[in-house]
Amino acid sequence: MGFPAIRMRRMRRDAFSRALMRETVLTPADLILPVFVREGRGVREPVASMPGVERLAIDELLKVGEEALRLGVPALALFPAPDAAAKSEDAREAWNPDGLVQRAVRALKQRLPELGVITDVALDPYTTHGQDGLIDASGYVLNDETTAALVRQALAQAEAGADFVAPSDMMDGRIGAIRQALEAAGLIHTRILAYSAKYASSFYGPFRDAVGSAASLGKGGKHTYQMDVANGDEALREVALDLEEGADAVMVKPGLPYLDIVRRVKERFGAPTFVYQVSGEYAMLKAAGRNGWIDERACALEALVGIKRAGADAILTYFALDAARWLRGG
Ligand code: PBG
Repeated sequence: MGFPAIRMRRMRRDAFSRALMRETVLTPADLILPVFVREGRGVREPVASMPGVERLAIDELLKVGEEALRLGVPALALFPAPDAAAKSEDAREAWNPDGLVQRAVRALKQRLPELGVITDVALDPYTTHGQDGLIDASGYVLNDETTAALVRQALAQAEAGADFVAPSDMMDGRIGAIRQALEAAGLIHTRILAYSAKYASSFYGPFRDAVGSAASLGKGGKHTYQMDVANGDEALREVALDLEEGADAVMVKPGLPYLDIVRRVKERFGAPTFVYQVSGEYAMLKAAGRNGWIDERACALEALVGIKRAGADAILTYFALDAARWLRGG
């Protein structure tokens, strides 16, 4: 039985039947807005390689948080762009109880308690060398020493009130170590979003400009800890380990070039699976849109629906507020 009994175009003929058979519906509640936080008051500093994205002083961050809630975007993911003076070889500013992120978390949770706050656990904004961890004389990122530092950072964030701590560093064993430390401190409700399948991607370039780690990093890559872009099975092993160690949700990052991984992770584990549409993906869509080469709004929404269709439960995207406005018909 084929044509003409079956005409696939019948269901596509009218908007109403297209709507009835639509499998994936993107809503603002699927989205998480990553934000860059800086020192100062009343400051919004544009990020050159990410049009529409700004580094925000904490008082400006509160306004963005309010807007997110108003639009139905449930959470923010905070990334610090600290002053150069806050950077050191051992990244100790990362766990300062009065450090930039910790102050931002307290301000957000005080003003907007119902807005979810996710903090980044990784040392790169705070190291003079731009690596996510502590290095030895040869520049190699030390695993266990870094993990000990990440535990201190995660505790400082959780104590400040972060709802989710999100280790994006890719050290081995850090999820288990952080989970144990949280339990020992009585912080039993703090969720862990593990960047489990985080690839050594070239799509992070604009982010590194935004947090100011690009210059420090120089030519040094992150290939000794982030995953080889060619691998899939390895991602499943990473996810399995992080879930075993106590992750509440896992992340695949970047988004669009890794939809096969998203699908495999979601199908194999059935765990909350978040996807990060990263800075380079955003910059490409923005740049082409601004040149009039693509329809930015249509292409951005298509990319986000595609990520959700692949299996994402939530998507970190710099388009979050715009997408929420578009979805609400704005
Ligand atoms: C580093 C970190 C990176 C991103 C999030 N956390 C960059 C990196 O690994 O160098 C990238 C996010 C983006 O590109 O939007 N801990």
